[in-house]
Amino acid sequence: MKPTVLDLRGRKGQRFAMLTAYDFPTARLAAEGGIDLLLVGDSVGMVVLGYDSTTPVTVDDMVHHTKAARRGAPEAFLVADLPFLSFATPERALAASERLMKEAGADSVKLEGGEEVAPVVEALVRAGVPVLGHVGLTPQTASALGGYKLQGKDEATARRALDGAVALEKAGCWGVVLELVPAPLARLVTEKIAIPTIGIGAGGDCDGQVLVFHDLVGMFSGFTPTFVKRYTEAGAAIKAAIARYAAEVRSGAFPGEGQSFRMKEDVLRRIYGG
Ligand code: KIV
Repeated sequence: MKPTVLDLRGRKGQRFAMLTAYDFPTARLAAEGGIDLLLVGDSVGMVVLGYDSTTPVTVDDMVHHTKAARRGAPEAFLVADLPFLSFATPERALAASERLMKEAGADSVKLEGGEEVAPVVEALVRAGVPVLGHVGLTPQTASALGGYKLQGKDEATARRALDGAVALEKAGCWGVVLELVPAPLARLVTEKIAIPTIGIGAGGDCDGQVLVFHDLVGMFSGFTPTFVKRYTEAGAAIKAAIARYAAEVRSGAFPGEGQSFRMKEDVLRRIYGG
């Protein structure tokens, strides 16, 4: 049964698994595989749409992919990302969240940022929108952070992540993603806030973990962050299958008898005769 936001808050201290899904088949496989929470991340821009960052992803893109994921996993708790600049003001955030929840079927939105986005989170929560926060490495503003690199090694960035998580809890988030921060910092944040933390590249002491589907199954060849564990090499398996298909078409081995349809001899004769 689909958890409520209250159930999710109650999962503090329990380990749970979240995975990204951007389409019908992946969401269905993830749900069938027992994933607790699905995220239609704006990482869709990089792993599916071929952009070199998440910046170009639009609300329309997110609505399109969230709808597809929802069709694949009707019973899952589905979180959808608010893409870059779609939450620059409370009004824009409300409009984008309205589309993601009413049109596309998301159960919650996620947005990146710490103390600076607290007023937006407050406005969303006041309007009844469940919000998941995201601090540490925030890919939408990676450039300002010096690239896709570990956050929180020094006091200033560690404080920013910690204070951000505390501010997001105060603003009403039901949980906070901690991305690419040292494990001891993630542990401290997890101890300091009463809502669940969901780590990615943040060590094993977060309440939940999240991974990008294409990283987990080996289907994104751009780059693989060191914190990713590949559970299978689906990309290599798919490439090998495609190569065999192409070779069999060229050799005439495909389609064979088993993939062809028969018809009655007399019908064939009449057609030929006619
Ligand atoms: O967009 C995304 O997939 C994310 C996860 C990496 C947490 O934000």
